[in-house]
Amino acid sequence: MCGIVGVVGNSNATDILMQGLEKLEYRGYDSAGIYVVNGERSNLIKSVGRIADLRAKIGIDIAGSAGIGHTRWATHGQVTEDNAHPHTSETGRFVLVHNGVIENYLQIKEEYLAGHTLKGQTDTEIAVHLIGQFVEDGLTVLEAFKKALHIIEGSYAFALIDSENADTIFVAKNKSPLLIGLGDGYNMVCSDAMAMIRETSQFMEIHDKELVVLTKDSVQISDYDGNLVERQAYTAELDLSDIGKGTYPFYMLKEIDEQPTVMRKLISTYADADGNLTVDPAIVKSVQEAGRIYILAAGTSYNAGFASKAMIEKLTDTPVELGVASEWGYNMPLLSEKPMFILLSQSGETADSRQVLVKANEMGIPSLTVTNVPGSTLSREATYTMLLHAGPEIAVASTKAYTAQVAALAFLSKAVGEANGKKEAVEFDLVHELSLVAQSIEATLSEKDLIEEKVQGLLADARNAFYIGRGNDYYVAMEASLKLKEISYIQCEGFAAGELKHGTISLIEDGVPVLALISNNEVLAAHTRGNVQEVIARGANVLTIVDETMAREDDDIKVSTVHPYLSSITMVVPTQLVAYYATLQRGLDVDKPRNLAKSVTVE
Ligand code: F6R
Repeated sequence: MCGIVGVVGNSNATDILMQGLEKLEYRGYDSAGIYVVNGERSNLIKSVGRIADLRAKIGIDIAGSAGIGHTRWATHGQVTEDNAHPHTSETGRFVLVHNGVIENYLQIKEEYLAGHTLKGQTDTEIAVHLIGQFVEDGLTVLEAFKKALHIIEGSYAFALIDSENADTIFVAKNKSPLLIGLGDGYNMVCSDAMAMIRETSQFMEIHDKELVVLTKDSVQISDYDGNLVERQAYTAELDLSDIGKGTYPFYMLKEIDEQPTVMRKLISTYADADGNLTVDPAIVKSVQEAGRIYILAAGTSYNAGFASKAMIEKLTDTPVELGVASEWGYNMPLLSEKPMFILLSQSGETADSRQVLVKANEMGIPSLTVTNVPGSTLSREATYTMLLHAGPEIAVASTKAYTAQVAALAFLSKAVGEANGKKEAVEFDLVHELSLVAQSIEATLSEKDLIEEKVQGLLADARNAFYIGRGNDYYVAMEASLKLKEISYIQCEGFAAGELKHGTISLIEDGVPVLALISNNEVLAAHTRGNVQEVIARGANVLTIVDETMAREDDDIKVSTVHPYLSSITMVVPTQLVAYYATLQRGLDVDKPRNLAKSVTVE
């Protein structure tokens, strides 16, 4: 979703902004722009499409020492140059970039901006006109910005430049992510550390409803009433080499391939050399005390929650309930006694999940964020954090974060079960079982050619498809279908295999692809085989992905056997490759599917 970069006090401002925007591309966007100031001269350049399109419009003479840049993911107003950021005030003096949604923008327009001419339809343009108007009315820039912040409702990350005094960037945030990057003799602002990691590893958090006055050698943070806030810088644990694509054609393929390494990294993080678990005892105690665990998440993370539910319940003896974050933020159901909330989130920035966490904090409910991004909003605001250690996930379609989430929850469940003295948890040799998982994934990855070939006949021209499975395979089917539809644009449903005959089977006709998942449970396998026969009888084109101990000769893709608690991890990997190859074969951009954003920072 939208991304912000800004820099003050560096003569390479244009280059820093453009490199930063390129690093933010993975978040998803449809247009981009930069504003660069060089003494008396300034340039505002915008473009719809890719950063490469913006780059093509930038002449070699556009140097500058300060500037702001933005990637826009349209919310208010279509994808046009006028609606792309940065936006300017009525006189053109103030220039602003914004992430988020200003909920009362129409009210503001009516109340304060009579006679103003707006170029586009965005909520952001109203904000910069408002600030400009307050300065026209006689306020200083800082006073005008503060006054506007008191009026504006909704979510925002702002970076503002006054073209008449461009050695300062004014910054504020509420609900949308924004960080300060500390350079040597210059300073930066950015939506995430990835955008500035080439320049610095030193960052400073900005909390909600804080305002920052940023110059090349100072960072002044205050609340909206002007009370100064002390904040320590922190070192981001990101390695520039982690965010390169290497020799891979797409990030998604690289990230699928990284999964065995991620499994081993989790073993070394959450177990010592003797195999004893090292999960934070405070987290274990908090889960032990819970009467019920509520997992709140969105999209792939939600599916990972489902894939972990049975394992958590069996190892901890604590019931687990799943909630769609975008629903629970505003429709919190009746909770049981002693609830504990687990927020699953790759990015740690998902606005819907954050809304639930805000509610949980108000209600005094203990919370654990399981995330890939240290220092992310959900990590900062939850009672506890467990990190996924999966390395940056750049492709919009999440892969290694899903498998890392299930594995991390396995460590948590075993640690809690052991603390409860549960025999099954004590006997579950997770370190060994996860090593087998890593090997099983490697075996699947060595079958890429076979998977590519199977997909060619099945999905290259398909308009719709079904994944079916039972038990954990049903939950994997949900994730597999999300993966396929989000990047290949094939309409796909993940279905409980036995439920198909209760209505949806009417959609099965000649040639409809049905992908059946069968992992290692004999009873469930036999029933799913029966459902496969039912769809074949109605003309479906079936592909089977089967645990090798259950497999028959004519099954299509065989997955080497792992512990049933962990089969969601190994069963999902071939489906990630199915989505990848189907998308390639349809000639689409695997890493940047239309309309989607990596970090969904609006509700
Ligand atoms: C799909 C995908 C999304 C995210 C969802 C939640 O591949 O990546 O469905 O899983 O937007 O994001 P996080 O996990 O960052 O909270």
